Amino acid sequence: MLENYKSEFYRTGNRLHLNNAGLAPISKSARDKIHYWGERFYQEGFYTDHDYMFDVQHSRTSLSKLIGCDQEEIAFFQSTASAISQLCFHFPLSSADEVITWDQEYASNLYPWQEACKRSGAKLIIVSSGENLTTPVERILEKITSNTKVIAISWVQFLTGSITVIKALSEITKEKNIFLFVDVMQGLGLHPFNMKDWGVDAVAGGSHKWLTSPVGVGFLALDMKHMNIIKPHNIGAYTFGTCDDPTDLICTPKRDALKFEAGSKQVLEITALGASVDLILKTTVPVIEKEVLRLSNILKKGLLELGYKVHYNNSSIVNFFPRTDSALKLTSIPCNFAIRGPGIRLSPHAFNTDQDIERVLKALSN
Ligand SMILES: Cc1ncc(COP(=O)(O)O)c(C=O)c1O
Repeated sequence: MLENYKSEFYRTGNRLHLNNAGLAPISKSARDKIHYWGERFYQEGFYTDHDYMFDVQHSRTSLSKLIGCDQEEIAFFQSTASAISQLCFHFPLSSADEVITWDQEYASNLYPWQEACKRSGAKLIIVSSGENLTTPVERILEKITSNTKVIAISWVQFLTGSITVIKALSEITKEKNIFLFVDVMQGLGLHPFNMKDWGVDAVAGGSHKWLTSPVGVGFLALDMKHMNIIKPHNIGAYTFGTCDDPTDLICTPKRDALKFEAGSKQVLEITALGASVDLILKTTVPVIEKEVLRLSNILKKGLLELGYKVHYNNSSIVNFFPRTDSALKLTSIPCNFAIRGPGIRLSPHAFNTDQDIERVLKALSN
């Protein structure tokens, strides 16, 4: 299974892909899907109509399996930020409410909630991270008051891979009737997740990291029990029906998350995402997680042995405090990386190999 997964990624040339928490290479299945639809649109045009919609629907079904929700609860957007904006700008917030988030959130989660609080008069409560940028649930729990309406956090943080234990949090949010929103961008497809079992009200994420598919797809999964509360932001033919319906002014929105997709979709990107998600489902998330943790542990251990200070939180992300020439050395191999928070962020995926990690450690050792 793992060998088949690894064989899905391009390995010719000497480039090292170790910024998968930034932008991962896409799988062969995703690439083939883009070629497939490119060719069919080129040759058949309108005659593809039914088939491409069916394939988009297939992507939605596959993604729902990965998230652990119903397919009717998923809507596609252009980015994580647009999916979160849909949710938070139509969430019923008032000046009496409080929204809780971490002090190290990625801007696509932080800024929409910050703006929604500004517009509604709600108070944004920013919780300080623990030592070494850890994100223990207890720190969030301490900030809950009778005014807490929403907790909006990332499951896995983008700087250091710090994980917040969502299930521990949802035990309290369910009891206190607090809406729990989770940005799953840095964890979905990498660690096992289940929106329903974990008691999460809504999640958002995107295509281009651990889901190894092209940039340009965000998604929102909203529990059906909240569907009536959140009005669609973008409005068009598909909010109510399809492009074949006659235009009139009696507009009844769809009852599921499809109401959030106002018009025509990014077919190439969404179907490519579906192909990569199918690959993940076939490989299984625990197999991917085991390999990622094995590789990131070798990397962490090697860096520590070389005397680097490392932030590591049992996810893919290994963030180390660089020496003057570390970035230059990595660039020269060449290996991609990101400068994030405390240092340099490296983030192996399951398609990486032991040799990739050895090359990085060798470059950083001299
Ligand atoms: C936690 C998290 N959420 C979302 C994103 C991506 O957001 P968007 O799709 O809006 O570019 C990132 C990318 O770095 C991220 O780390």
